[in-house]
Amino acid sequence: MKTRITELFGIQYPIVQGGMHCVGLAPLAAAVSNAGGLGIITALTLPTPEKLAEEIRRCREMTDKPFGVNLTFLPSVRQPDYPGYVRAIIEGGVKAVETAGNNPERVLPALHDAGVKVIHKCTSIRHALKAERIGCDAVSVDGFECGGHPGEDDIPNFILLPRAAQELKVPFIASGGMADGRSLVAAMALGADGINMGTRFLATQEAPVHQNVKDAIVKASELDTRLVLRPLRNTERVLTNEAVERLLVKEREIGDKIQFSDIAPEVAGVYPKVMYQGDMNAGAWSCGMVAGLIDDVPTAGELVRRIVEQAQSIIRSRLGALAA
Ligand SMILES: Cc1cc2nc3c(=O)[nH]c(=O)nc-3n(C[C@H](O)[C@H](O)[C@H](O)COP(=O)(O)O)c2cc1C
Repeated sequence: MKTRITELFGIQYPIVQGGMHCVGLAPLAAAVSNAGGLGIITALTLPTPEKLAEEIRRCREMTDKPFGVNLTFLPSVRQPDYPGYVRAIIEGGVKAVETAGNNPERVLPALHDAGVKVIHKCTSIRHALKAERIGCDAVSVDGFECGGHPGEDDIPNFILLPRAAQELKVPFIASGGMADGRSLVAAMALGADGINMGTRFLATQEAPVHQNVKDAIVKASELDTRLVLRPLRNTERVLTNEAVERLLVKEREIGDKIQFSDIAPEVAGVYPKVMYQGDMNAGAWSCGMVAGLIDDVPTAGELVRRIVEQAQSIIRSRLGALAA
């Protein structure tokens, strides 16, 4: 299955696993890459560039296929050692980087000089065009449905993807709400060159997280996500739980005057508690509306195979018949 994205990253299928904090570690990244997609290690989950270098080495022991690293630019006061992470990526021989969260311009020269292809994840056409203008090799277009940070424009993929197709010259992939072969065919029909999935890959055997997280995704319906942190203009789509509902009450009650410190108990340091200890009410964690389409916990390989087979069958029979 060749598209501009498979060509760009040297992979078999145009299926990418988006960076996921506390989830995107070597076991998942390698499993996705071994299945013919592009697995991604999430740099900031590793506390130092040295630890990232180790994780890259660990991933290389698990797969001889291409994999990538996600670099998320956070709006935090104490900035992580981004130059150090970039060095670990380059010295580790990684050839694909997913950037997200903010303008990646500062890391592009070093990455490009080392032959690394950069795909920037963004939630609006203006940011996608900016990414193209500054020299990103591809864009991941993250619709309003997505788990994580959907931005503040609230444009779902049925509109965002064809708009991206109208405007962009670089290849782009559809992110947010992607689950199966139907998603892949629909994304391609709307002009994308592939798909990016977060939540769906979180509910796979190899995702190195507590079984409670996977069970919660399987149990959830499309009605079970909430948008939090909107008053701070850092909107995040999360799975609802006791902490999330408490957080939403605070947001309503405090209104525009809300500060990060007001909601820190529900968001700060939550991920390890949820992902590794399985404490499902510890706080807010990202999850997409696509949870409503997830009913099982396959291996990443089985998932990718199913997606490809279903997509090919839809194109051959259902859509082929329409064109006859
Ligand atoms: C648990 C979780 C953690 C995530 N963490 C990050 C992150 O650290 N950096 C990032 O760029 N995106 C992150 N994302 C977003 C995903 O990479 C991806 O863009 C998103 O999940 C796509 O939407 P979907 O969940 O509907 O597939 C996260 C998503 C989830 C579900």
